[in-house]
Amino acid sequence: MKSDISVQQAKNYQNLTDMEKKHIPVIEAPTEAIAGEPFEVKVTVGSIPHVMEEDHYIQWIELHINGDLVGKKELKPTEGKAEVTFTVVGTEEMITAREIMNCRVHGFGVCGTCGTRSAIVNLTAIESCNVHGLWEDSKGIEIISATVKPGKKCQWGPEL
Ligand SMILES: [Fe+2]
Repeated sequence: MKSDISVQQAKNYQNLTDMEKKHIPVIEAPTEAIAGEPFEVKVTVGSIPHVMEEDHYIQWIELHINGDLVGKKELKPTEGKAEVTFTVVGTEEMITAREIMNCRVHGFGVCGTCGTRSAIVNLTAIESCNVHGLWEDSKGIEIISATVKPGKKCQWGPEL
């Protein structure tokens, strides 16, 4: 059995090959979520459904948020469809981490008192086909702080 060690990604989203359409995970998620409030992320393989047969099937699907594993679902050929719904929770720490990074990179303090504290975090889905190896795709979601303080203007610095 062929096994690819590297994770394959879409080379050109405007012109996906049939192989890519059958293997690149499709991530369905809200565009934003409140920190601490669970939301669902559905991952399907792929935009053209991959076969689930004894000798050729999707073995598992993983979901990561900012590089941390959210969950992994093992699949069987009898499963019928290669799709999994994960429950994900964004955290205030993800927003704080983003603010600290901004501060370091851009050299200014970020607003911690406005009503729109948030951070774009990365959802990454990885799947394993027993014949064609590992494939991944990513999608950003905005995590919004639950401790917003309305009525104040955000001050993100001059150029942001
Ligand atoms: Fe495959």
